[in-house]
This record gives sequence, C-alpha cells and structure tokens, in this order.
Amino acid sequence: MRWGILSTANIGRKLIAGARVAGVEIAAVGSRDEARGRAFADEHGIPRVHASYEALLADGEVDAIYNPLPNSLHVPWSIKALEAGKHVLCEKPMSRDVEQVERAFDAADAAGRVLMEAFMWRFHVQTARVVELVRDGGIGRLRHINARFGFNLDPGSGNVRWDESLEGGALMDVGCYCVSGMRLLAGEPVRVSAERVGERVDGRLAAVLRFEGDVTGTFDCGMDVYPRSGLEVVGDDATLWIADPWHGVTPGIVMQRDLGEERIEVEAVDPYGQELLEVEAAVSEGRPPRLDRAESLAQARVIAALYRAADEGRAVTL
Ligand SMILES: NC(=O)c1ccc[n+]([C@@H]2O[C@H](COP(=O)([O-])OP(=O)(O)OC[C@H]3O[C@@H](n4cnc5c(N)ncnc54)[C@H](OP(=O)(O)O)[C@@H]3O)[C@@H](O)[C@H]2O)c1
Repeated sequence: MRWGILSTANIGRKLIAGARVAGVEIAAVGSRDEARGRAFADEHGIPRVHASYEALLADGEVDAIYNPLPNSLHVPWSIKALEAGKHVLCEKPMSRDVEQVERAFDAADAAGRVLMEAFMWRFHVQTARVVELVRDGGIGRLRHINARFGFNLDPGSGNVRWDESLEGGALMDVGCYCVSGMRLLAGEPVRVSAERVGERVDGRLAAVLRFEGDVTGTFDCGMDVYPRSGLEVVGDDATLWIADPWHGVTPGIVMQRDLGEERIEVEAVDPYGQELLEVEAAVSEGRPPRLDRAESLAQARVIAALYRAADEGRAVTL
C-alpha cells in the first residue's frame, strides 16, 4: 500500500521512522504550506508533495492516509479521506465525542475502507506481554490499576495541545493512553470521577475509575509536570510495574511478589511500524482492524464521561 501523510506534524517523523523499519511505503505528503511540505518531504525522502490536504486526497497513487492533524480535525479529515476512497490511520484520540466517532466509522463502512485509531502502544510486544500476565493469572486476581503520563509544555508555546479550539488538553493528549491501558486490562468502567486544573484546556487531570468485579483504577495526566509515565497493575498475589508503557522505548516489566522482584525482559519494537502493518493486514484480509469501531467508541465514551465528571464535580455512571 502507498501511504500519504496529512500535514507536516511532528509525530509524522516517528511514524516515518517506523514505516522504514516495517518496510511500509510513504508515497506523499500534503501540507497547507507547500514550502513546509517540500522541506518535510526532502528531509524524509518522500517522493510527492501536495500544497493542500485536498490535493493529497485526490492523489490516485495514494491508497491510505495517516491523519496526524490537531485533535479537532481528526474526524472531519478522516471522513474526507474515506470519502475519497482512502483507508485511514487516524491519530489518537479519534475524538472526545461518541457521535463523531460513529460518523467516522459510518463513513468507513459506506466507503468500504479501513479506519483505525492510532494507539501505537497497543502494538508493542510489551503490551501483549502485560495482557498475557494479567489474563493468565500471573498476578492473581486483578484489584487495582494506576497509570500516569505527563510532561512539561510551556502554555505560551502556541502548541496545539494548549489550544481549546483544536481540542487540546492533557486528557486528550496523554491521559487517553491511561484510559486505553485501564480499559485494556479491566474492561469498561462503570463509574468515573475526575478533577481538572486549567482554564481553557485541562493542563492536568486526575481521575478515579471503578470497573466490574470491584476493580479500581486511578490515573493522572498533565502538561505542566515533570515528565512521568508508568503503569502499575495490582493483583492480590503480585504487582506489575511498567516504567515505559506508552512509548516502549525502554521496555521491561517488573513483577513484585513475596516482597521480591523479578524483571521480565521484553524485546524493543517500533510500534509505529506495527500499527501501519495492522491497517495493511486488515485491508488485505478484508477484516476490521484490531482497534475497531467498538474500541474507539468505548475510548470516546470514557473520555467524555471524565470531562463531564470534572466539569460537573460529580461521579458519572456509564
Ligand atoms: N501516537 C503518538 O505517539 C503521538 C505523539 C504525538 C502526537 N500525537 C497526536 O498527533 C497529532 C498531532 O500532534 P503533533 O504534536 O505532531 O502536532 P503538530 O506538530 O502541531 O502538527 C500538527 C499539524 O497539523 C497541521 N495543522 C492543520 N491545521 C492546523 C491548525 N489550525 N493549527 C496547527 N496545525 C494545524 C499542521 O501541518 P501543515 O502546516 O503542514 O498543514 C501541523 O504541522 C495529535 O492528535 C496528537 O495527539 C500522537
């Protein structure tokens, strides 16, 4: 398949590196600014440049689009790409609005094309190993999950993450990984509550979730904190600690049991290449991608509930 990249977004650099490792072809890039698009293409050895997103979508030699636009543009431009007959890998979070997610997948179905939300961490072998350990009873019964993801970004930087109109915010940017992690291991939450800090967008958000089977979860995310990431999965028999769960650049799982520690080594893989390969496999096998409509809907439902809980100052039942 031949891929086109919608914009010169920073994250495109990581995706291109992953594509190279995975042997995926990046054929074109489209930018609102031709010179910026040209410079990006030259830097990454991309053969064709389009001076608008529309022109990229009209390129008959592009089969699939990677959409790393700011959050508020994920669904509108994914729908345009699907309607132009392209398969789409859309950056996370697809949306905080359940109806928008429905609309995007309706467009994919109508066009007979594949659409997937780009939660690349789900394609890392480390993630698969954690799921295996929890599902196979490696920690006993699952009791609690604690997740974190934060970094420090100047609110005056003009970055899209601090822009309310582009649907920035800590939960949208990094907290959505914590939500994804908890849902993967504990299923869908039945009740959530949250506290947010920040005027226009949530610069920081902390949440408490309750799942079926008396499983509890807590997470914090922020754009005004010293960089932090981690996932702690607590059973009644043992605890797993993953220091780098989301990027998996330095993978490794620590199992704590009987007051001792065992380190489970995990292979370092490039998850960006793997998510591209998953879309390609879904296309060639004529099946939904691993992160399908139900998955993206569930993500959006929880994100929306967390914002509602924070805004209304009360627990929200799902
Ligand atoms: N999966 C991951 O690991 C990961 C990591 C980082 C970010 N992301 C996601 O990727 C997306 C982009 O993040 P990023 O940090 O790469 O963003 P970014 O560098 O700010 O790039 C966004 C791009 O969108 C285009 N754009 C179109 N309308 C815009 C507008 N009104 N304001 C600003 N830019 C506009 C611009 O490209 P042109 O000027 O070329 O048109 C810009 O370069 C976000 O949804 C984020 O959540 C994912």
